[in-house]
Amino acid sequence: MSAQESTPAQTVESTDLVEGILVEEISKFKENSQIGFYRRQKLLHPGKSPYVAQLDSLRIEKGIAKFNIIHQETKVLLQVQVIATKGNILRFKINEVSPLRSRYEVPDVLVEEPATERFLLLEKHAGTAVLEHSHGSCKVHISSQPFSVLVTQEDKALIGINSEGFLYFECLQPPPEKSKLDEPDTDRLQNDSEDVFGLWEEKFGDFVDIKANGPSSLGLDFSLYGFENVYGLPEHADTHRLKDTRENEAYRLYNLDVFGYPVYSKMGIYGSVPLLLAHKPSHTCGIFWLNASETLVEVNCKATLQSPLNLTTPDIKKQKAIPKMDIRWMSESGIVDVFMLLGPSPQDVFSQYAQLTGTQSFPPLFSLGYHQCRWNYEDEADVEAVDSGFDEHDIPYDVIWLDIEHTDGKKYFTWDPVRFSDPVRMQEKLREKRRKLVVISDPHIKVDPTYSLYAEAKDKGYFVKDRKGQDFEGTCWPGVSSYVDFTNPVAREWYASQYSLDKYKDSTDILFVWNDMNEPSVFHAPEMTMPKDAVHHQGWEHRDLHNMYGFYQQMATSKGLIQRSGGKERAFVLTRSAFAGSQRYGAIWTGDNKAEWDYLKISVPMLLSLSVAGISFCGADVGGFIGDPEPELLIRWYQAGSFQPFFRGHAKIDTKRREPWLFGEDNTRLIRKAIQERYTLLPYWYLLFYKASRSAEPVMRPLWAEFSECQDALAVENQYMLGNALLVAPVLEPGVTSLDILFPGTGEYWYNFRKYARIRGPSRQEVTVTMEEIPVFQRGGSIIPMQTTVGKSSAWMEDSPYELHVALDSKDLAVGELYVDDGHSMKYLHEYKYIHRRFTFSGNVLSSRSADKEGQFSVDHILEKVLILGLKKSPSEVTVYCSGGQKTTEFIYNSQLCLLNLEKLALQVNSDWEIHIK
Ligand code: NOJ
Repeated sequence: MSAQESTPAQTVESTDLVEGILVEEISKFKENSQIGFYRRQKLLHPGKSPYVAQLDSLRIEKGIAKFNIIHQETKVLLQVQVIATKGNILRFKINEVSPLRSRYEVPDVLVEEPATERFLLLEKHAGTAVLEHSHGSCKVHISSQPFSVLVTQEDKALIGINSEGFLYFECLQPPPEKSKLDEPDTDRLQNDSEDVFGLWEEKFGDFVDIKANGPSSLGLDFSLYGFENVYGLPEHADTHRLKDTRENEAYRLYNLDVFGYPVYSKMGIYGSVPLLLAHKPSHTCGIFWLNASETLVEVNCKATLQSPLNLTTPDIKKQKAIPKMDIRWMSESGIVDVFMLLGPSPQDVFSQYAQLTGTQSFPPLFSLGYHQCRWNYEDEADVEAVDSGFDEHDIPYDVIWLDIEHTDGKKYFTWDPVRFSDPVRMQEKLREKRRKLVVISDPHIKVDPTYSLYAEAKDKGYFVKDRKGQDFEGTCWPGVSSYVDFTNPVAREWYASQYSLDKYKDSTDILFVWNDMNEPSVFHAPEMTMPKDAVHHQGWEHRDLHNMYGFYQQMATSKGLIQRSGGKERAFVLTRSAFAGSQRYGAIWTGDNKAEWDYLKISVPMLLSLSVAGISFCGADVGGFIGDPEPELLIRWYQAGSFQPFFRGHAKIDTKRREPWLFGEDNTRLIRKAIQERYTLLPYWYLLFYKASRSAEPVMRPLWAEFSECQDALAVENQYMLGNALLVAPVLEPGVTSLDILFPGTGEYWYNFRKYARIRGPSRQEVTVTMEEIPVFQRGGSIIPMQTTVGKSSAWMEDSPYELHVALDSKDLAVGELYVDDGHSMKYLHEYKYIHRRFTFSGNVLSSRSADKEGQFSVDHILEKVLILGLKKSPSEVTVYCSGGQKTTEFIYNSQLCLLNLEKLALQVNSDWEIHIK
């Protein structure tokens, strides 16, 4: 039986009148108009903010500016805090001055409490105040009536806050009548006009959400002056550049299990990262809305600012009609806690976001190889046959995966006693092949008192509760299940400890983990997820933290894997659900896509949006999870996937088998070629992840982030950069014989990655495409490290010699790096056991030097080959200088391609050397 067959399609009929619209059919997932807090906030009219800033209350305490704002009708007071955060970040918080109860403030996402810099009060007149950031060039102009804020940088308007008047804040109130909270009163929902807005109860289909704390929604608008392009806000199966939402649905951030999600939709799917980036050639900035409750984001791309801003600064007054983007955020609960990342470059924004939420965890090398998954590999014999199949067909792969059927009755941390009667034997065979195993571990725990994991969690009170205080029970793969409350640090510790080798029976240290269904997915529940009135640790409602549930599971799992090695080894954990900060704990994939061309195509913008939101280790199921791909699609998907960060083939239980050798000799050859190319590039992938983990450089980058001044790059989402050196143009449609490719960058050279011919940018060119490969180009000025031979898995390539592809720019220069360590341990971090080299080509000399002082890893890696692309004339002599002395070396020069080929160099990777070309 398949997942969907066992999952109810909860399409229900309803005749509710929602704002005059007859909603005849409510599907399983909500549309905006079915969301109470959205309907309430939409009653606000633009430009009429009822809030007034009480500038008399403005004070600066320890550098933080604090003042009150008052709602003119309700007279409710809110406190605003403006905090200059280190690194050109501005934090803005709004909360009730004296709330009835505490409101949820997202914990655990920020890596630390951000360091505060000082604000100085520059001016205060009747109705306005100006604050200046003591370290930066930014000023904050506060207008009193109506309340609005303008952030300027170098006296230019950058971000307006509440300039459209959409500040909205529902203060907590006592319940109207206590008795009404005990049982859902469906009559009241239909009859009482108040509840059309879902204040205390909200109905969706057969489900009623009881709101113990009543309405608690909040919202705020931001105007981005001079910007016309915004990105980010994953996860949506939509374009990378965000679209205008005025005629359509808002972007919904609400983690949901949407099997076969529709493409080009703004509906919420598995993950939510509330980070939006705005880019124009002269500036990049970001808005990070730190809120984990259901959130909607409206984007108005067509706004222009016609009149001068009401400000004292003369430069600002001069500004006339300028484009702007209006962004309106609406969340169901919590507080307003928003970070404005002021850039100014794309990399500055990536670094600012990483300073707050952390960088991508540095993955073990094996996880950058190819992963072979299927729901399910049936039994040990099947695993062995598939494993051998790769060797027989000379295709490298690193990891085989086991889906839910490997367990005993969907009880995670157990093994099916018949299919997998000797899991240790199976793992030892994989170990001999120098490969790994990944098994699935979902957050739902089968309700079964004989299942020790369940009994223990129940006994210790580690499950999420329902609103009446009982363990919440919902249905998922095992049937009735309870859900670990990962928001409880003690439950997380306990869960992490389940991965220790002595607790997790028959697990070994080659076993790694896949956290699925962690939105969390709950069958027969509202929108197939946990009811919002479920209750977590410390009494917080699920509504407050829904989008963080999967984040916490991956956090606990990755901790468990690190702990099981005594802190010595790196973890690998794949998660389906994610939030801001998930990058610290592993990889994410884009869930249940279909074996259709549209899903291959959408994988590129989806991964780009995740990447710019800090999650570099991302991928889509190669081949498409649902359905059977035709061979052309499967091949194109392997070719695309081999140039995407997380590279895993996966298929649903009811699909035809699709191991790479099942489609005829020629198709096997093409898939082999794509996977082998991935392996030859592993040194480059590893370097990119090292840099992502160290300095927040996205591995996969939209062209606008790398060519920030290129107007043509702003809307490109079928091409992208890997690091700063490779331009990738995957084939995303059937029958393609040529692709129109943008080669960005004034005066940039681009070299065909396999054939070495050169193209000059900026230009658009029609490039011929065959089934052999997808177009990839190396940027002039870069040096890419590769390996010359491919092994059965990444571990078989430890001794494979290195090769450098040196691509010269218009000034005959190039630079690049290589990073090598043991590939799996934490020694790179704690003992500096790594090699980090910097290669420079200048004045016809290629040299290798240490890139930092600390690295000290002694291994005998050999650099065997160097290709120099774009060398204008044939050398008369090539001489190598290294610690062993100097020697001339043989070379081959191709004058047509301007290509110099040096082989059999036998240089030590870990030492300084120079190659002089005369
Ligand atoms: C849903 C996941 O998205 C899919 O990848 C997995 O195979 C099934 N759950 C079964 O575990």
